This record gives sequence, structure tokens and C-alpha cells, in this order.
Amino acid sequence: MWTAGIAWDGAGYQIACLHADGRAVPASRFRANDITGMVAHLHAVCGTGVTCVVDSTNGLLDGPLRDAGLRVLRADPWELPARPAGGSVPAHLLARRGAAAEGRLAETDTRSGSLKGRDLDDMYRTSATIAEALAREGRCLKRGPAHLRQVALTFDDGPGGADTGRILDVLRDYGVPATFFCVGLHAQAEPATVARIADEGHAIGNHTWSHPFLPDLTRDEVLFQLDATARAIADVTGQQPTLVRPPYGAQTPDSMAWVADHGLTTVLWGQDTNDWSQPGAEAIRANALTGIGNGSVVLMHDAGGDRSQTVAALPGVIEALLADGYSLVTVDQMLTGGA
Ligand code: NI
Repeated sequence: MWTAGIAWDGAGYQIACLHADGRAVPASRFRANDITGMVAHLHAVCGTGVTCVVDSTNGLLDGPLRDAGLRVLRADPWELPARPAGGSVPAHLLARRGAAAEGRLAETDTRSGSLKGRDLDDMYRTSATIAEALAREGRCLKRGPAHLRQVALTFDDGPGGADTGRILDVLRDYGVPATFFCVGLHAQAEPATVARIADEGHAIGNHTWSHPFLPDLTRDEVLFQLDATARAIADVTGQQPTLVRPPYGAQTPDSMAWVADHGLTTVLWGQDTNDWSQPGAEAIRANALTGIGNGSVVLMHDAGGDRSQTVAALPGVIEALLADGYSLVTVDQMLTGGA
């Protein structure tokens, strides 16, 4: 029985493997877009029965690893030693902790993803007051102006290689813009895709470096996540993003204040397509369009797992919106009330 700890830092991922009989394979390093290489390494070292362990500062790998047929457990901070601001707990410690504490770790699944076992309702309640105050200042957007017939399509977690390319092809075919909330690990690994997003007139926002559960993070860690991602994007586009989407929409009053004090605007959504859970293209289309109205922000994903259903659903979503007289705008355009 093998356990693989998967760590992240400012350059990519490391995988260390530990067998129940005490054999240990030291960490190997991978670029963040090399899921194929990571899965091949896990199979070569561990065979097919490996259990992967990530910590709650990494929300990018559970989907692709589950798509590859692997179990993925999430280790929470109270199970782990302290970590640096710019990285997770080291891979060999994640493997060791995972092997020792497996029964206490949350197993991610396609129904709740890396949020398995968490309840966000309390968080939304305690953050509602500051969210409303920031919204009045134009520093937090969940919905655009009600008097403008506009909708903003948004894509999170990329750039995601070929899937992002297919989504960009569809947007280009219809001549409509979107907003891509990129994660730093992927932006650093795929600068050419970041460049294409910007060159084709889409907006780029900040979706943190490693897709952490922000309520687990200190102020220094939150600022690392934002600044490192902004640098990776600005290295390509020359512009630091001013829009931030917190992973899972999970925030605390503290983390919202840290983001706002950093001069950034938080962007949430009203139309959740749930596409990350791969419910089928027709369900994604229905989730996007049911109850949509002026100022709606639609949440989709261009990475974090197989996005072929999102690609298949997108033309139908765009055609329905255009037929209904909506202008598709970027979130920046929605915030300024223009198109
Ligand atoms: Ni995300």
C-alpha cells in the first residue's frame, strides 16, 4: 500500500511516495501542467493502488487525479506541521501524515471536490456584512447593473492547455469576450495560453497561486498567493490583474479585508454551472441559463479536470444569450457599466 504526498511551491509540484512497509521514494519535481507526467510517475513507482495526499492549500490536483482513477485525500492544517507562506508542507511529510492519519483525512470526490466535509454557510453569514460594504464601494461584485442587458462569462482555474484553447476557439467563433480567473501555478507553466487569452481581448483575473482554502491562510500567505500570481500574469501581459476570485468563493471578514486593502476587487458569481463536477453538457447549459438575468455572472472552468463537457455546452449558452438580446461583457466592463 503506497501513499504519495504531493507538495507545491513557487515553481510547481513535488511527489514523494511512502510504502506501508517503510520503503520511501524521495521527491521528484514536476511542472504544474504536467498531470500526465505526475500520473505516469505515480503508476511507475506505486502501481495502481496509490492514495494521494494534498493539503488544503492545494485545490488544483484532486480533479485531474480523480479523473485518472486515483484516490485523493485532503490533509487539513491541524493534522500537519507549519508550512512556509510560499508553499505547502513538504511532500514526504504529507505522505507520512497521510499514511498515519488516513482515517481522519477527508477523501475528495466528484460531488464536493476538495471541499469535502466543509460547510461554507456559516462563512457566508459571517462575511455578509463586509461583503455588502465592499459591494457598495464597487470593491466586491456578485452581479452587475440591473438596468443593463449584460452577462459576464467567467472561466476559473486555468490556463488549462487544450481545454482553454477549445474555449478560446468557441469565444472567437462567436466574437464574444469572457473573463479568465487564472491560477499562478498554471499561468507560470503556460505563458503562451495566458498571452493568447489577453491577445484575443479577454480579461484576466487573479484566482490565487495554488487554489487554497483561503480561511486556512494567514495574511502573509494570502498576500503571497495574490502577489505571486499577479507577477506570473504580468510577466506575460505587462498588466497586474485587479480582479480576484477567491477559490470556492470561500472567505472570512479578515481575508476579504486583506484583499480589499491590497487594492483588489473581489468577483463572485450568481450562475453556478457546476461544470467542475462533470454533470453533462446539457446540465451545464441549463445551470448557466436557468434564472439568468441582467448583470448575471456565470461561473465555468477551463481547467482542474476534464473540461470537454464545458466546451460542448458553451456554444448553446452563448447562442441562447445572444438570441435573448444580452451583450456578453468582461467583468471589467460590467464594473464600469460599459460594454
Ligand atoms: Ni477555482
